[in-house]
Amino acid sequence: MTNSNFIDSCTGQYEQMISQFLSHEYAVVDGFLPENIVLGLRQNLLAFNQAGLMYPAGVGKDFDFKRNATIRGDKIRWIESDTKDVFEDYLLQKILGFITYLNRSCFAGLRSFEFHYALYTQNSFYKRHKDQFKNDKGRQFSLVIYLNREWDVEDGGILSLYPDSGEVRIKLLMGRAVFFKSDQTEHEVHPALRKSRLSIAGWLKN
Ligand code: OGA
Ligand code: MN
Repeated sequence: MTNSNFIDSCTGQYEQMISQFLSHEYAVVDGFLPENIVLGLRQNLLAFNQAGLMYPAGVGKDFDFKRNATIRGDKIRWIESDTKDVFEDYLLQKILGFITYLNRSCFAGLRSFEFHYALYTQNSFYKRHKDQFKNDKGRQFSLVIYLNREWDVEDGGILSLYPDSGEVRIKLLMGRAVFFKSDQTEHEVHPALRKSRLSIAGWLKN
């Protein structure tokens, strides 16, 4: 599918994302990706993990980068922009469509993006933080998509957002996307309590 076809068929979702964001400082859109794509991405993540191809995440960037499991304990794998995998390609096309839409309708000035798989094994978490680095202000918007098939509140791992209006707790529904401003909205991943928490997280950059 070409980029412009993609934009036409996804306009409703992009619009929903933007209007929620404008009124609440964040957006939650269910079914952001079709189920077969979510299941494919989920399989990819599990296969990468089986093959030992997921790596401990860090905090900070370049000279500021460090691994610190008391801040975050997830394992990640970056998605290549020239991927040949059909599921990853669908995701990236969808993101590209969203970027084009944001630039056209909101003059967002976005020029690139980066996305990674993330795996929080039992007891892993990510303490309250913002996503924009101190020494690289490129990250403008954050987008997280959940890949777990079933996830109960008792499984932990909930995402807390801290917009100005107060804490919002987001349940992890398969295919759900959460969107917020990288330099503005603090958020936190609570410990995964009973099983591994699978997601994709990424950033739209200027
Ligand atoms: C991140 C992050 C949130 C989530 O990767 O920076 O905050 O719900 N992820 O996985
Ligand atoms: Mn974050």
